[in-house]
Order: sequence, then C-alpha cells, then structure tokens
Amino acid sequence: MDIQIREATIDELPALLELNQKIFVKNPQFDRDLILDFSLTPEGIEYFKKEFKREDGCFLFAEQNGKLIGYVNGGSKKFAHRKSKYFEIDNLGVIPEEKGKGIGKLLLDKILEWAKRKDYQKIYLNCYAKNSEALSFYKKSGFNEIDIGLEKTL
Ligand SMILES: CC(C)(COP(=O)(O)OP(=O)(O)OC[C@H]1O[C@@H](n2cnc3c(N)ncnc32)[C@H](O)[C@@H]1OP(=O)(O)O)[C@@H](O)C(=O)NCCC(=O)NCCS
Repeated sequence: MDIQIREATIDELPALLELNQKIFVKNPQFDRDLILDFSLTPEGIEYFKKEFKREDGCFLFAEQNGKLIGYVNGGSKKFAHRKSKYFEIDNLGVIPEEKGKGIGKLLLDKILEWAKRKDYQKIYLNCYAKNSEALSFYKKSGFNEIDIGLEKTL
C-alpha cells in the first residue's frame, strides 16, 4: 500500500469537511445529542478552520493515490492541576473502507512523533464510551483511561 502521511494545508478545508462526514458516520450511535452533519454547519466549518490554523497544533492527512483516506489533528491542552505538558488529539479517523489496514496506527504514530519532537510529555484525548473499536485501538497503543465524562438529561 502506498500511503503518505502529510501535513494538511488551509486550502484543503472543503476536502477535510467532506472526509470528516465519511469518517465519523457511527458517532450518532454513540451520542444521541450530536448535531448531525455538524462539520457542514457554519459552526462546524468555523471549528475546523480554527483547528487548521492552530499555531500550537498539528494536522495530518493520510493520502493514497491522491485520495484522502484519513486524518488526525490536535494541539496543546492546558491542565492547570496537572504537572506534565499535554498534547490533545482532537480528531482521528480513517474512512470505513480503509479501516483495519494499519492507517489509524500510522496517523497516531506520526502525530505522537510530532508531539514528542515539540517536547510534549503526555497525550490526552476524549473518546465516546460506546466507541469500542476506538477504545480497543487506543488501548492497543498504550493509552489508559484517566477520566470518564458523565451526563444526565434534566
Ligand atoms: C479507531 C480507528 C481510527 C482505527 O483505525 P484503523 O486504521 O482501523 O486501525 P489500525 O488498522 O491501524 O489498527 C491498529 C491496531 O488497533 C487494533 N484495532 C483497530 N480497530 C479495532 C477494532 N475494531 N477492534 C479491536 N482492535 C482494533 C488493530 O487490531 C491493530 O492492532 P495490532 O497493531 O495489534 O494489529 C478507526 O476505526 C476509525 O477511524 N474509526 C472511526 C472514527 C473514530 O471513531 N475515531 C476515534 C475517535 S476517538
């Protein structure tokens, strides 16, 4: 497989929004409160534009024969009450037809390498409790649970 992991550029925002829609198709199963097609709403476009432009961030695409098949991005995360310098992965995913081929791991390894070069000491991320494939994936790569988000409808 001829897969390239490379930095994204700002002119690729429309392609990213389309890619994001393809990747996170299962999220409504994990979160009934999710705004469907969020990345295509004005708020979603603004969110991704900011993620692209983060000076403290890293945004990588996985590309195969000119086709975008996955991405990962993140940036610094401040925890006032913790000692280490944290990097947070905000999004990571691969299109459904390319899952299970090592591309997620390739993206994860590259962003971890990047964070290490920038002297980050720990990596943090959020994952839906019901997203068992992502939880297995991260645990295989050495991530451990540190906190659990709870919610209740009033
Ligand atoms: C989670 C995700 C990124 C994994 O990417 P992937 O390319 O399919 O994973 P890889 O092929 O690189 O697998 C790497 C390792 O994780 C394991 N893994 C991946 N998916 C798994 C699954 N569904 N169940 C169990 N283990 C899994 C693989 O077995 C592999 O282990 P190995 O190194 O021992 O062989 C992918 O399933 C995805 O894009 N999901 C939708 C988006 C998403 O939920 N992202 C996470 C948001 S928090």
